[in-house]
This record gives sequence, C-alpha cells and structure tokens, in this order.
Amino acid sequence: MTAADPVKVMKEEVGKAAAALVKSNSVVGLGTGSTTAYAIQYIGERLKSGELKDIVGVPTSFQAEVLAKQYGIPLTTLDAIAHIDIAIDGADEVDPQKNLIKGGGAAHTREKVVDYLANQFIVVIDAGKLVDKLGSSFAVPVEVIPMAMTPVMNAIKKLGGKPELRMGVRKAGPVITDQGNMVIDVRFDDIPDPVNLEKTLNNIPGVLENGIFVNCADIVLIGEVIDGKPSVRQI
Ligand code: A5P
Repeated sequence: MTAADPVKVMKEEVGKAAAALVKSNSVVGLGTGSTTAYAIQYIGERLKSGELKDIVGVPTSFQAEVLAKQYGIPLTTLDAIAHIDIAIDGADEVDPQKNLIKGGGAAHTREKVVDYLANQFIVVIDAGKLVDKLGSSFAVPVEVIPMAMTPVMNAIKKLGGKPELRMGVRKAGPVITDQGNMVIDVRFDDIPDPVNLEKTLNNIPGVLENGIFVNCADIVLIGEVIDGKPSVRQI
C-alpha cells in the first residue's frame, strides 16, 4: 500500500474543518482551488446527511460552480442576496498579519469580490503556505485585459517587478481567466508594504485585479501532519 500524500491529507483535513463551521440558513462564499474543493465536498456531504439545511453558495469561479453542482449545493448570485455569512477560500501565501497572496488558480478577481463581502472569511491552507513575508516563494498574480498587456508589463517593470505572462498547461498559449482576460505573474525582490503594493498595481490602467489580499482574513485554518497524524490549527 502506498502512503497518502501528506499535502493532500493536510488539504482534506483543513477543508473538512472549514466545512464544519458552516451553519444552516446561511449564504456561503465558495472559493477556488484544491483545498477549498474539499470544503465544498464536505459542505455537500453535510447537506446530504441533513446535518446542514437551507444554505446557498456564491461560487468564485467556474471550478467552484461545477464542484457545487456536483455536491448538490444550491447556488445564487450577488444580485439575489443581501450579504454573505461566511466565505471559505484557499491561499498561496499567508504572512503573520494574515495578509495573503492568492490567484494560483487565476480566480483572484472573483475571489476578492466574494471574500471581502463575507461577514466571516475563513482561509484554508496547508502548513507549506505560511511565510514570514509575502512574495517569499510566490509571484503576485495580476489579471490584465488583453489589449493592455504591453503597457501594463512596462508599468510593472518600472515598479521593480519582473512580470511573466502565465501560460496554459496542456493548452497552447496563455491562461485565459473566467472573465476572458490574461494573468501576469510578478516577482518582486521584496514586498515591504503589501497594502500599498495592492493599490499601486490596481491603479495601472488595464489591470483588473491583483492577488494581494490585505486586512480581510478573519480566521486562517492550517492543516498539518504531526507525527504522522493530520491536525488543524488556527491563527
Ligand atoms: C485560486 O485562484 C487561488 O486563489 C487558490 O485559492 C489558491 O491558489 C490556493 O489553491 P490551492 O488550495 O489549490 O493550493
């Protein structure tokens, strides 16, 4: 028998823990990515068993929409609801102030809309996503409208960033977002002030949204494997 992949185990455990925080009669923001996929699965299972009743989901991507339908979670849109009670979403990096880099799945624009609207935003990560400073291991994803690609790249270089157009996997050409745009991954030698960088990037004409999320995460759930046993801790 082959041993279970520890990262997968951490993601599943933390996704399950987040799903357990969802209450009946609530509106739930459904994030994107492999960790949130487990949360969506377990929310669906709680609904199916009758433990959870009368929830509606707001998906942050086509992926979240497909998974919610697969697991029987009724969906709604932002036009039809007055608030979001809880949002569950993954992250690519989390710093000690609970600032995030998101967008590894190119869904950060819709994720930012939904996650910021939620009364409670729960971030679900495996322990490998914790960093002392944002930008340590992950580039900042920036969604750009296609006709503005060259001027946006030039403006980012002037800010000291190293931009790279994200290319598709098993698809020739660039990644196209759910909105029909492209994503530039930007490496910075240092991000001393994430609050400011988020605003500066979004002020470049042609940028739709970037993956720096500041002052929005309420709880970060971290999946770990300690002495071979999966566990979840919270910051
Ligand atoms: C999607 O665009 C991202 O923001 C994801 O939430 C993030 O990349 C985390 O994904 P995983 O849970 O797959 O690591």
